[in-house]
Amino acid sequence: MFTKKKVTGLVLTSVAGWLCLVFQVSGAESIHHISSETCKTCHKEVFKQWKESMHANSTALSDPIHGTFYRNVAGEPTEEGVLHKASQKYPVCLNCHAPNAARDKSTKLDANVAYSEGVNCVACHTLKSYNGIQAPDGKLQLGIKAYELADKIQGPGRYSNRALSKLAASNDLFGGDAAEGSKPNPHLGEPVMMDGQEIPALPMESNPKQTKTSDACMGCHDQRNNPHGVPLCQTGNEYTMSDSKVNCLSCHMPVSSGIADHSMGGGHDLTILQRSVVFDVTAEKNGDKLVAKVLMLNQQPHSLPTGAPFRNIHMLLTAYDKDGNPLWKNAEGHPGETDPQAYLVYALANDEGKPASPPTATKLGKDTRLKPHESRTLVYEIPAKDVVLVRGELYYSLLWPGLAKQFDHLPEDLTSPKLIASSEASL
Ligand code: HEC
Ligand code: HEC
Ligand code: HEC
Ligand code: HEC
Ligand code: HEC
Repeated sequence: MFTKKKVTGLVLTSVAGWLCLVFQVSGAESIHHISSETCKTCHKEVFKQWKESMHANSTALSDPIHGTFYRNVAGEPTEEGVLHKASQKYPVCLNCHAPNAARDKSTKLDANVAYSEGVNCVACHTLKSYNGIQAPDGKLQLGIKAYELADKIQGPGRYSNRALSKLAASNDLFGGDAAEGSKPNPHLGEPVMMDGQEIPALPMESNPKQTKTSDACMGCHDQRNNPHGVPLCQTGNEYTMSDSKVNCLSCHMPVSSGIADHSMGGGHDLTILQRSVVFDVTAEKNGDKLVAKVLMLNQQPHSLPTGAPFRNIHMLLTAYDKDGNPLWKNAEGHPGETDPQAYLVYALANDEGKPASPPTATKLGKDTRLKPHESRTLVYEIPAKDVVLVRGELYYSLLWPGLAKQFDHLPEDLTSPKLIASSEASL
């Protein structure tokens, strides 16, 4: 993008001086068009973390699950002028899933690298202050609409003394590679040269109130309703209900090797899922019965699972004999029908109370997920004869089982349940 502009600028200069003036006035690159590839020139480690995250894969071009819904409720992400079918307005989705395109009211997400990068560096680092998602007119203002936007990079304020230094002394911000030495600083308001490439001026200001608190996340992660006013995601509401004083960053952006980690794992990340829950199975003999207790403790100040309504968790409990043969199970296959207490899910319903998809739901169904910090124990009575081991397994799925079957065009790692915890009790 930048190089293209520069070439155009040169051509214009040689054609006519006044044209060049026009280019400089109107063609200066807006900050929200700056690709994360530019930031990568110096911030290599942060870039690597971000690139693997769902933030870098948030558009309908790169997230197959979002892409399926987006094409259904809006249209092709490569076309201009697409409307949200239900409201006949600019698709609200893009305020969160492709914020730089939303700033230009564009729906052609391949028109600019900064659009297709979804929630990229500048999308977060130009959020200046959070106004909340309740607009004065009673409607919801979502994603970038919930924020004042800046044309300067907003940072937590760890940088060196501006008056004294044009170079940054610390290597931490770039991944701690001491051999690389210091970097030229484009954040002082002048373009700099780096690896033979011109980096545009990226003026920066210190804004710890925005960047070091949950305000950095809430505009996109609080509540989102479907066209019928049914809340689909409500991580923010759950968090508020928990009364927690711990912010989102302390878990989702832990400091590691000198930088705030930008991987921001969630439902797509097995490691953070494994950390989410304390899962413990105990069993005691009581006459000819075993009483098995299954503890599930949610460690988060939001529900488990949180996020999109089709996230769900199910628990399988099996009793084995000494040869490893299963003698008893809490459910054959998925427990949703036969052992509903072992299914943690946030159901959506239509007017008849039947299960409904996110775009069509008119009311909330049952919410059996673990509440923020909830500790829940399920109790099972099992015939004790020949049982030597009781094993519990907890599985996380991105999609409801029915939806996963319907979405057979998706890669299997998105549709199959993942084992996130297991526990065994020996008799
Ligand atoms: C040419 C190298 C270079 C490039 C390219 C670059 N930065 Fe930086 N960045 C720096 C340096 C040097 C510092 C340390 C500044 C200081 O100490 O004054 C820094 C610091 C930061 C900080 C931390 C500020 C704070 O408040 O602690 C943020 C945030 C940041 N950069 C974001 C970005 C973003 C976003 C981009 C891409 C749009 C980018 N940078 C591109 C060199 C670069
Ligand atoms: C501009 C909007 C925006 C902001 C600001 C934002 N996010 Fe996100 N975030 C998204 C979107 C959109 C996705 C989902 C991408 C997808 O799955 O398609 C996402 C995904 C995530 C996920 C992963 C979910 C998964 O399915 O694996 C986590 C965790 C997360 N964000 C945490 C945060 C935290 C913590 C902050 C604040 C530091 C934050 N986000 C700020 C829009 C945003
Ligand atoms: C989802 C929002 C989000 C995205 C996307 C994002 N950042 Fe950040 N970034 C933050 C927040 C919030 C902080 C402050 C963390 C803190 O200080 O606790 C931060 C901190 C930083 C810092 C300072 C690190 C430190 O340890 O002080 C740098 C440098 C930075 N970001 C660069 C980038 C670059 C480069 C990209 C793109 C590759 C990027 N960020 C993408 C939200 C984001
Ligand atoms: C105590 C640590 C902790 C805190 C604090 C925390 N989270 Fe999480 N978060 C997790 C864990 C662990 C998971 C994975 C399990 C799950 O999905 O609930 C997760 C999952 C998520 C997801 C993934 C949802 C999806 O659909 O895949 C999002 C989004 C998210 N958190 C956002 C937030 C936001 C926003 C905040 C602040 C309001 C926050 N979290 C605070 C630990 C935390
Ligand atoms: C307020 C911000 C916001 C808006 C508006 C929004 N989303 Fe999202 N969406 C998110 C966030 C954040 C996530 C990921 C974390 C979670 O699950 O909560 C997400 C996740 C999703 C997912 C799951 C993706 C996955 O990888 O599993 C789908 C599907 C989705 N959104 C579709 C849509 C559609 C379609 C629209 C527009 C009708 C839309 N979203 C509007 C913030 C938003």
